[in-house]
Parts: sequence; structure tokens; C-alpha cells
Amino acid sequence: MSRTALVTGGTRGIGRAIAIALKDAGYSVAANYAGNDKAAKAFEEETSIPVFKWSVADHDACAKGVAKVEKALGGPVEVLINNAGITRDTPFHKMSVEQWHEVIDTNLNGVFNMTHAVWNAMREAGFGRVITISSINGQKGQFGQANYSAAKAGDIGFTKALALEGARKGITVNAICPGYIATEMVMAVPEAVRQSIIEQIPAGRLGDAEEIARCVVFLASDDAGFVTGSTLTVNGGQYLV
Ligand code: CAA
Repeated sequence: MSRTALVTGGTRGIGRAIAIALKDAGYSVAANYAGNDKAAKAFEEETSIPVFKWSVADHDACAKGVAKVEKALGGPVEVLINNAGITRDTPFHKMSVEQWHEVIDTNLNGVFNMTHAVWNAMREAGFGRVITISSINGQKGQFGQANYSAAKAGDIGFTKALALEGARKGITVNAICPGYIATEMVMAVPEAVRQSIIEQIPAGRLGDAEEIARCVVFLASDDAGFVTGSTLTVNGGQYLV
């Protein structure tokens, strides 16, 4: 039987590419999304990957959502991709309490909430993959992203700590740090700022979502069973760690 995988924020951007790549690799995939019904419906029609709506920022909703996904997929989630993420970019002196909390709640607490919902079943099964999409900006910091950089750096610490706890249970826990990828999120950065960022990328271009998806497929595979607690840097050479 094929393994089950759940991708949060899986109907658009990097998450969409991940969901499709996992399906192509033979997984039974479900995609979560929080807001954009129209995009989710189009994604479901196009890919036949079932979609489930809830906010990863809501702990109870994650437990209920995962239960629905498991019913639909016919078994516990074996591969969790924590991909859902938002930005509320603004210099710190203008950052509101809401802008801080919204980003921490989705990008960091959401990773806790979702992993919490699948962790015990993975321990019992003696197998699991938790792959969290962090960011270059969690590694290097970014002007205008104190909230986002804090959350994404937190995701890396979470990954390292949980890798230690999962290691004897057959669960690997890894993070991927994409650089600037050609998605709606990056296209929302003002044109002039975006151009100056592209100039800082040695590869001379934005990344493709599929380039991140292929890394996920590797980390989810049996071939990557000894890879845990790692941070895979995928940024065209923009920041070397
Ligand atoms: N470094 C140093 N100074 C900077 C700067 C930078 N990178 N960017 C702006 N400034 C300075 C400006 O020169 C300006 O200085 P003065 O007041 O002396 O003229 C001051 O900061 C204020 O700048 P703005 O008026 O432009 O401030 P703003 O409120 O309009 O917007 C911003 C600032 C929202 C942060 C905007 O610059 C921006 O969107 N930057 C891009 C942030 C970014 O990279 N986000 C990533 C989104 S994609 C993503 O998150 C995915 C991923 O994981 C990679």
C-alpha cells in the first residue's frame, strides 16, 4: 500500500508543487489550505488530490482536520509536510502586535500544532517523516521580517530538538530552507526590492517550486532514513551556511 502524506498550505505555491511531486512519487496525498477556496477547488479538480480546509494556527482544528484526512486516506499520516506560511512584512518600528502574532501563530505555532496531531501515531508505527519548510530568512534574517525570520528560525530549532526524540522511533525530522522561489509570496515583494534581491543570488534567478518539491521527495524516501535534524539549504547560492 502506498504511504500517506499531508501537505499544509498544499494548494498553492511551493506546497502545491510538493503535493503533486509526492503524488507522482506514489504517495496517497492530501492537501490542507486555510483561505483561498477558489484556488483549492481548482487544484483539487486538476490534480484529484483531496483538499481539507482549516487553519494550522488553531490547535483543535489541526487535530480534527488530521482525523478527517486519515479517514479519507485510510490510515495515519506517515509523511507530514509543514509548508503553510504567511508574511506580514514591515520594518519592526511599524510592526503591530497583530502582525507579529499572525506570523508566529501560522509559521511557528502551526508547525507545533500539526506535528502534535501526527506524532503519537508515528511513534506507535515506528515510522514517520516530518519535513518543515523553513526559509533562508530564518537562517540569515531579513529587513522587514522580524516576525517571519523569528518563526522560521524557530522552525529550525524545533526540527533539531524533535529529530533527537524521533530517532529511536524511526521518525526523521528535517527542515528545508528555500531561498527566493517564484511564487505569489515572492512576487508580492515590491518589484524594485525583488530585483535587488535577484541580483544577490549567484544563480542569477529565482528558484522553481519544483526544485523544493524534489528535495521533499528525497527526504520523505527510505533512501533518506539516516538524514535527520538536518537543514537543507536550497537558495541558488544566496546564503551559504
Ligand atoms: N536594508 C537596509 N535598509 C533598508 C532595506 C534593506 N534591505 N530595505 C529598506 N530599507 C530602508 C529604506 O532605504 C528606507 O530608508 P530611509 O527611510 O532612510 O529612506 C527605510 O528602510 C524604510 O524603507 P521603506 O520606506 O521601503 O519601508 P516600507 O515600510 O515601505 O517597506 C519593506 C519596507 C516592507 C520591508 C519592503 O522593503 C519589503 O517588502 N522588503 C522585502 C522583504 C522581503 O524580502 N520579504 C520576503 C518575502 S518572500 C518570503 O518571505 C519567502 C522566503 O522565505 C524567502
